[in-house]
Amino acid sequence: MADPTHSDPKLISREKRKTVGDITVDNPRMTCRNVNVYYGEKQAIRNVSLDIARNEVIAMIGPSGCGKSTFIRCLNRMNDTIESCRVEGEIIIDDVNIYGRDIDVVPLRAQVGMVFQKPNPFPKSIYENVAYGPKIHGLSQSRAELDEIVETSLKKAGLWEEVKDQLEHPGTGLSGGQQQRLCIARTIAVSPEVILMDEPCSALDPIATARIEDLIDELREQYSIVIVTHSMQQASRVSQRTAYFHLGDLIEVGKTTDIFTRPKHQLTEDYITGRFG
Ligand SMILES: Nc1ncnc2c1ncn2[C@@H]1O[C@H](COP(=O)(O)OP(=O)(O)OP(=O)(O)O)[C@@H](O)[C@H]1O
Ligand SMILES: [Mg+2]
Repeated sequence: MADPTHSDPKLISREKRKTVGDITVDNPRMTCRNVNVYYGEKQAIRNVSLDIARNEVIAMIGPSGCGKSTFIRCLNRMNDTIESCRVEGEIIIDDVNIYGRDIDVVPLRAQVGMVFQKPNPFPKSIYENVAYGPKIHGLSQSRAELDEIVETSLKKAGLWEEVKDQLEHPGTGLSGGQQQRLCIARTIAVSPEVILMDEPCSALDPIATARIEDLIDELREQYSIVIVTHSMQQASRVSQRTAYFHLGDLIEVGKTTDIFTRPKHQLTEDYITGRFG
């Protein structure tokens, strides 16, 4: 009987697939090598290797179901919370493999923070939303220090001026865009090095989106940011590098301007020109 992998040219090329573009950067903040992710028997990420640079925004794009969320959830072991999920490979930050033994995911998730698609403030005051992390991580010795962290984090998230007179009001009472900035402040409050954002603007209107995009650009001075987005315009506006995923493969990575003006891989070109996805 004919071997199906040899009769289907798509499968042959898929077996041989190697990411187009340079997956490495000088002095990376994070290094991912040969990452495979499975949900039960089903493989969702196939042999992905990629560096995350310091002070960069890197965008993850690709059709729905290609594995963008799965991949970024590997970077702070958020996939650990999904029972059927298994991650193989190496993901290194500060010379430590985060999948190594003895890794405590609580400090890891402060170091590699995450902002979700839907703003999810705690049902607590604005102040407590931001103060909660520093408290449980023991980052402040006094109320004055905690006040300072809350104020600085809200300032960095571009929300301070709007909420400084209502810090005791519930976080859930803010507008969607304000709630998302509150969630960003909460992430910043525990001194992360990397911030993961999975479609952070998809629940926001264009004005709130523009504010978050400006903020992302400012945050790059201090942090590495990995953003998943369905908007190619957003990827172009906020990121310096872009990674294109397709059916669990990292097809191509490169400078954002190159990916959107002269992609090297046919699949990337099909996607950015709207022929796919
Ligand atoms: N909790 C889960 N259990 C089983 N399969 C999952 C789970 N989460 C994702 N998958 C599968 O893994 C693959 C990648 O999904 P993922 O959510 O990472 O894609 P995505 O690129 O983020 O898609 P979208 O753009 O729609 O958010 C899909 O085939 C999906 O069905
Ligand atoms: Mg997703």
